[in-house]
Amino acid sequence: ETIEWEADAAEKGGYEHYMRKEIHEQPQSLRQTIAGRLDVDGGDVDLDVSLSEEQLQSLDEIEFVACGTSYYAGLYAARLFETLADVRASVTIASEYDFGGGRDPWRTLTVAVTQSGETADTLSAIRAAKQAGAQTLAVTNTLGSTVTREVDDSVFIRAGPEIGVAATKTFASQVATLALLAVYVGRRRNALRAGRASTLLENLRALPGAVQQVLDNEPVVEELADTYADSEAFFFIGRELAYPVALEGALKLKEISYDHAEGFAAGELKHGPLALVTEETPVLASLTDGSRAEKTHSNVKEVQARGAPVIAAASADGDGTRPAVDEQLPVPNIGLVEPLAANVYWQLFAYHVAANKGRPIDKPRNLAKSVTVE
Ligand code: G6P
Repeated sequence: ETIEWEADAAEKGGYEHYMRKEIHEQPQSLRQTIAGRLDVDGGDVDLDVSLSEEQLQSLDEIEFVACGTSYYAGLYAARLFETLADVRASVTIASEYDFGGGRDPWRTLTVAVTQSGETADTLSAIRAAKQAGAQTLAVTNTLGSTVTREVDDSVFIRAGPEIGVAATKTFASQVATLALLAVYVGRRRNALRAGRASTLLENLRALPGAVQQVLDNEPVVEELADTYADSEAFFFIGRELAYPVALEGALKLKEISYDHAEGFAAGELKHGPLALVTEETPVLASLTDGSRAEKTHSNVKEVQARGAPVIAAASADGDGTRPAVDEQLPVPNIGLVEPLAANVYWQLFAYHVAANKGRPIDKPRNLAKSVTVE
């Protein structure tokens, strides 16, 4: 019994749960993701993908199919592709996917984003795309997984094994990998200047250190989680690149704490969700680069006027100022990947709310790490 317990603790590297260990592994897993892939000075990336320059140039659309956390990574990626690669980009929940008529499959690249490479819904979507004649690519964590055998090509996120059912480090590595892919495609389509690519790559290189700075603030987040653990509901808001992070923050919290949490596009609050906002519903806002934070500030004011406590993960704006909120969580200035650093605050928040309630964090009720049924 004792020995078993010790072995278990050793596996978790001294952490009480895999989830917390994996949250803390992110600086390292992100370094693995980008290792050898950045050419910061040249403004390009070194990615082993076989799509020809000609294929990339004639692309009319790139579409992502995925489920759960991977779907939110796809949402982030679609925005990055539109800005960096000048290509129509969309993301579809895999179980809702239908290739549909009226499109040119030869000019479509369908990308399955799947940590495990085994999610039945995602496999069935990518098969449908392939059947229709689209080019297919997998962005996955798992060498030799089913998806890698079905697609034309795979790019690995290299996050290392993830045991906790709630995805954490793999989300960060998925988005980082997809950002690299956006640069790859953007450069080859002549849509992205080397200088702009170089800035993004510089930001990616700074990401592991920025995530470490966020992790160093864990005691503050733990205290906030304890303060607000018994709230009626939790609302996460963000715009543009911070919108997927709002959705992901809410998903983490509901998965492991079983509390009611929802993510909203900040601008949508006034079109309905605002009716739910009270003094009992903390609002967690991501105010970062790439998310038109100045607009989200006015949404923060809307919820403050209804008495909701506001916790903001915010980077300093051009004047070095951060919004006036109840709780300020600083995000380092790293451009378009700032939302990924903000997301780490929400991972820690979810973890500590769930820990406060004694939930079985690594194995939440009703959920599985990999869902192999449709
Ligand atoms: C399950 C897991 C989620 C995951 C989703 C997609 O629902 O509990 O954490 O995001 O599947 O998994 P995949 O392996 O395809 O990324």
